[in-house]
Formats: sequence, C-alpha cells, structure tokens
Amino acid sequence: MSLHSRYPAIADLKSRARQRIPHFVWEYLDSATGDESATRRNRAALDAVLLRPSILHGEFTPDLSTTLMGHSHPLPFGIAPVGMSGLIWPDAERLLARTAAAEGIPYGLSTVATQTPEMLAPHIGDQGWFQIYPPRDPGIRADMLARAKTAGFHTLVLTVDVPVASRRERQTRGGLTNPPKLTPRLAAQAARCPAWLAGIRKTGMPRMRLIDSYSQDTGALPSTQHAGYLLRTSPDWGYLAALRDGWDGKLVVKGVLNDGDAARLSDEGVDAIWVSNHAGRQFAAAPASAAVLPAIRAATTLPVICDSGVESGLDILRLLALGADFVMLGRPFHYGLGALGDDGAAHVVDILRQDMIANMGQIGARRLSDLPGTLIA
Ligand code: FNR
Repeated sequence: MSLHSRYPAIADLKSRARQRIPHFVWEYLDSATGDESATRRNRAALDAVLLRPSILHGEFTPDLSTTLMGHSHPLPFGIAPVGMSGLIWPDAERLLARTAAAEGIPYGLSTVATQTPEMLAPHIGDQGWFQIYPPRDPGIRADMLARAKTAGFHTLVLTVDVPVASRRERQTRGGLTNPPKLTPRLAAQAARCPAWLAGIRKTGMPRMRLIDSYSQDTGALPSTQHAGYLLRTSPDWGYLAALRDGWDGKLVVKGVLNDGDAARLSDEGVDAIWVSNHAGRQFAAAPASAAVLPAIRAATTLPVICDSGVESGLDILRLLALGADFVMLGRPFHYGLGALGDDGAAHVVDILRQDMIANMGQIGARRLSDLPGTLIA
C-alpha cells in the first residue's frame, strides 16, 4: 500500500505520531496555552473561509509556484521554526532541512533548535531562514547573525510574540524540563516509543546547542535559566532598528496580529510581515491568524506570510485567498516525522500539494493569484 492510501491526510499522520512520540514530548508539541481556545479559534476561522466553486474550466494543471522576497518557490508554503525539534523526533532539524532543500521550500531554523546553523549548512541549500529570539548582548547577537549568514541562512525572522513566557499549562503537566531529563515517569513513557528512543540514543539527549555554545560568554548556565538570561524575548522598536542595521539580508517580523503594528512595520525597513498566533501557544485570547489577515493585508504593501492551524492544502488556499502571499506550517511537519521518520516531511509536502491541486480544480483557479477572486465574502 502506498503512503497516500495509508496516510491520505495530515490527521492520519497526527494519530500515528501520537503513538510513536512519548507523551511528555507530545504534550510539548501539541498543546497551546490557557484553555487552548486560540487553537480552536484558528480552526473555526479557517473553516469559515469559503471559496466559490466554478464549472466548465476544462482540463488544467494549476501552477502552484510563487516568488517571495526575490526567491522563487515551486510551492507557496514552508516549514515554520520549532524549538527543540530534535526532541520531538530525533534529528528532526536535519530531516526538515533536507526536505526543504529537495522541495525548494523555506525552512526556518529556531534559535532554540537542537542543531546549530553550522550543523545544517551541508543540508539546507538556499532555503534557510534563521529565526531569532534576540540575545541581550549585542556581541552575541552579532556573532549569531554572522554564524547564520555564513552557514547559508539568508533570511532572518525576528519573533515578536513571546514578550514574556506563556504558561502552557498542559506542557507543564506533561513534565518536560529544559534541558529535558528522563525522570522514571518520563522514561517509562519513552520506553513505549522504541523508534523515538532508538533515535535519541543515537543523537544523544537533545539540547539547545546554539544557546549552549554561548555558555562560556554568560557564565556557563546550560539550561532554561541560560536561555532566559541570554535571550531578551521582549525586544522593542529600537531593537528592531538595531537588528535591521546589523543584518544585510531579508528581515521578517513574525507574530503580528494587529494591523496598526503591520502599518508601522512597513516603515521600519522589514521585508515581510508574518501573521501568526504561534499556534495558540502564547495568548489564549489572541484572534485567529485568518481572522486578522484581511486587515493586515490592507494595511501594508509588504509580502504577508501567515501561519497557525493550517492542516490541509485547502487551508493554504484559504489563507492565500484572504491575502497571504505565503503560508508556513509547524506542527504538521512534526506529525509527519513522528509518523514516518525520514520520509515524513516529504509526505506532508505531497499531501499539501495534492490537496491544493484537487481544490483548485473545484474553483477553477489556474494560478495562486486567482485565489483572492474566489473568496466568498
Ligand atoms: C513553535 N513556534 C515557534 N516559533 C518561533 O518563532 N520560534 C520557536 O522556537 C518556536 N517553537 C515552537 C515549538 C512548537 C512545539 C510549536 C508547535 C511551535 C511557532 C511556529 O513557528 C509556528 O508559528 C506555528 O507552529 C504555526 O502553527 P501550526 O502550523 O503549528 O499550527
């Protein structure tokens, strides 16, 4: 049986991944914050976007290609940055980078990933974006940027929706610590996931390697305290300006949900705005990305990237119809890895591609630029 007949949808990968990833890691990957209503709101807002069916278009193969910030991509979506990916599935960052390079789609490497830009340099091709949680120390910031650039990461993503740590109660209950520690309870969960455990034995216990590489500069604190000390997650407009001055590649600001902020960002020399509610993980009263996207689209002429809650190719079409230029996905790629290991991320790309093609046929959209015209207002 082909992968497509066994796992035709992201939901199939999700249920298999849930069985193969230890519970405490699953609670990290799959939880949001507070009552998790922001996650439900993401789903409801996407479901509410309807596209107008249209008939008698004859046979055609839709063109899914697009250009974003000067780079052409065969597909209008990419892989969002996820911290500690290598804990979710062993070697995840390398697997995701390789899929991104093979498919010609961007991959955002998180500051708090388990692999460093240098480790991914041989794999990422020209699809590397580097996501930065801003270091407090300007020297460390400059060094991180130089390392990312040298390793081939040409686009910098400043994440601004983590001004303070969110509470993530379900994740806390799950028992994950930083660095992760296999207490007897968590070790028992891991023992029920032999493929995960065998992979982690090979990679070693995942840790935030980029952060840890600066521990000599900040007093050797290899843990969350260290990340918290090293990173200033609440940058201000001045920090953004300094970052703009210190980076000569493309700069994206991620975590925008407010059209006033989008309008102001348009004057700050950034290259794209990334609408996101961080998959509902930061603020339970946050609006859905899909709900605020039209106002943000209207507030700026910059390219608009959007994520949070996308679960199908149809969801991608919905966001493009609402005015996004590009769509990113975080959890679905990790469901793919958890379900299928090495082949998982490529299968996610396939599912999304096939689903886009099937649904574009229903609305007679030959190219992505046709999508806004199909929106039922
Ligand atoms: C994230 N996200 C995230 N964003 C970021 O800028 N830096 C990071 O380190 C992380 N870490 C992270 C961990 C986990 C487990 C998740 C699920 C998400 C947010 C991510 O980039 C993206 O905005 C969302 O994941 C998009 O929503 P979906 O596609 O997961 O629904």
